[in-house]
Amino acid sequence: MAIKVSGERLFTLQTKDSSYQMYADEKDVLLHTYYGRRIDGENLAELIVRGDVGFSGNPPQAQGDRSYSLDCLPQELPSSGVGDYREDCIRLRHADGSTAADFRFESYEVLPGSYRIPGMPALYDNEKEKGETLVISMREAASSIVVRLYYGVFEEENVITRAVRVENRGKEPVYLDKCLSCCLDYSFGELELMTFVGRHAMERTVERNPVGHTKLEIGSIRGASSHQYNPAAILCSPGTTEDWGDCWGMCLVYSGNFIFSAQQDQRGLIRAVMGIHPTQFCFCLKEGEAFDAPQVILSHSGQGLARLSHQYHRILREHMCRGKYRDVKRPVLINNWEATYFDFDQEKLLAIAEKAAGLGIEMLVLDDGWFGKRNDDNSGLGDWFVNEKKLGGSLQQLGEKIHQMGMKFGLWFEPEMISEDSDLYREHPDWAFQIPGRQPNRSRNQLVLDMSRQEVREYLLERMTNILSKAPIDYVKWDMNRSVCDIYSHGGYSAGEVYHRHILGVYDLLERLLERFPHLLLEGCSGGGGRFDAAMLYYSPQIWCSDNTDAVNRLSIQYGTSFFYPVSAVGSHVSAVPNHQTGRSVPFRTRGHVALAGSFGYELDLNRVTQEEQEQVKEQIAQFHEYYELTHTGSYYRLSEPAGRLCAWAFVDERKDRALVTLVMTSAEGNPAPVHLKVKGLDPDRQYRCSLSGAVRSGRTWMNGGLTLPWTPGEYESLLILFEGMEVR
Ligand code: DGJ
Repeated sequence: MAIKVSGERLFTLQTKDSSYQMYADEKDVLLHTYYGRRIDGENLAELIVRGDVGFSGNPPQAQGDRSYSLDCLPQELPSSGVGDYREDCIRLRHADGSTAADFRFESYEVLPGSYRIPGMPALYDNEKEKGETLVISMREAASSIVVRLYYGVFEEENVITRAVRVENRGKEPVYLDKCLSCCLDYSFGELELMTFVGRHAMERTVERNPVGHTKLEIGSIRGASSHQYNPAAILCSPGTTEDWGDCWGMCLVYSGNFIFSAQQDQRGLIRAVMGIHPTQFCFCLKEGEAFDAPQVILSHSGQGLARLSHQYHRILREHMCRGKYRDVKRPVLINNWEATYFDFDQEKLLAIAEKAAGLGIEMLVLDDGWFGKRNDDNSGLGDWFVNEKKLGGSLQQLGEKIHQMGMKFGLWFEPEMISEDSDLYREHPDWAFQIPGRQPNRSRNQLVLDMSRQEVREYLLERMTNILSKAPIDYVKWDMNRSVCDIYSHGGYSAGEVYHRHILGVYDLLERLLERFPHLLLEGCSGGGGRFDAAMLYYSPQIWCSDNTDAVNRLSIQYGTSFFYPVSAVGSHVSAVPNHQTGRSVPFRTRGHVALAGSFGYELDLNRVTQEEQEQVKEQIAQFHEYYELTHTGSYYRLSEPAGRLCAWAFVDERKDRALVTLVMTSAEGNPAPVHLKVKGLDPDRQYRCSLSGAVRSGRTWMNGGLTLPWTPGEYESLLILFEGMEVR
């Protein structure tokens, strides 16, 4: 049993290597006593020392005990307006206008299996491991609001989840002004915070800051999880490295507005919270209604960041990604976007496909511009009708021709958007977000469809179903190219509900589409990595990682992405040089090596590359197949940071039979110092042959002694080095 309950009030959640503990104290406050390396279920509430702290008041139940203050206690559900002055998780507004929310432990139940959240993604049980669920009910002191805290435990995976449900069991409506999903109170020690921040075409670079009394906060109010701040964060002990130290991950399973903050309080306790951003959030809960907040996936490693990443990679790959392509090998694709942009016709597409098929590429993806009036990005979104004139025939004919070449066929959509210059907009201007009496903001000259409206989703489902059932389509790239604002729903929902209902609408459409077309491989995209989050992986097992295809910039983008997300989720393509985003020229081989650390593909016209590069395509595809198991399900090790003169990483398969090291030089130096590397993840007691020198040494020696390259590669050159385990006798 991963969930232990003692004395009906002490809850210890045990995973293989970690423990999480809570205790409902004598005043029914649910205290957080511990999260970290595994302990043996003793009550750690005694570690919490109370004290009479000036200006930190005492709840009525303290009955004169001036040392009992909610303002100083580590809690699971910090209430608001009742004497805890730190960050709260839940805010209520009652019918009389008062705003107190004071939640106390009422009851609990332990359920087999993992829990589902209505309308939202969550980790699921698979064939290998089933989770266990603890549900704790907390009752509000003076109203009929009940909060149900859901804790899921995946013991083998070292993962604990948390979600929140707020129920109005009374007659009066109550407003929910804030409802975060998770709170972690760390009673002892100093911590550092790692966040993954950036911008369009430069997503998820790593930032690390000490947590102090100044609040550290990230989030998104863009209607999507965003390029700017990824909805995932790591707290770690100072000095934590890839292989050493305690670290705690928090990863939100949500694609809309979110907030994460961490701050030290007056007595040194650090509180970290995560959930839906309270800005423009307000749900009215009438009698009998409930609100569900999304899941947070927690994981702890006592052995550094690499272990933490492996835990997230496994759980997301095996308990979040779904469908056929969770397990089935992904096809090597070629996408026409950077090859043609909007300027294509059937002839061009077939020429690209033909060349690609001859070199071993397995799927052609037709990107933006095949529908409505869409020869640039100013018009046509919403008119999901095939432009047969531009394609020189039907999509079915095109798809069949591609299939006849032995390739799969994929198609781009941007369902959530609408152009003002479209028939859809002319017919249904009220389907777009815009506030009556105000001019809407445009971005890429487009508006956002109000996905909270059923009729909008029905239209999109009908259109997509029509297209996907008439043509042989194996893959859909689901794009989303602007941030949301001008929130106002002509469908009747109040502004405070729309951001969330919009995202629920997106999930609903995705779910229903996949129900109809279960064979589809979906690739998520939002101008590259603007919605690269755990929730989207529930629908699309791969996500276009960034609109930046420059192999050197990709080193830091893919490095930052790797802390939480598995390589199998990272859409990564070889594109032309000079690179369209940066103007940089990187050797073809290096572009291939960097893209191999992802869901691999090409995004250029292979008719325009040299014969030698075409040979390299064949070689790269052979490497993709040869190393697929390693790269897609192996353990991923960061061997360096991307900011130095080289960037290196390794994949090791589960049996530790093979390790593949990739190394890219990011700069050149005169009289260069030698390059030295240490491998990770090998079996120390096994002998491995290194493909570079042919030398056979023990895993221990390769990992500790490492290897020095006999020459120093030049700027942007790269290398793949294979370590093959010898037969174990
Ligand atoms: C943004 C995507 O990230 C690109 O790959 C491409 O699909 C364009 N949109 C098309 O408009």
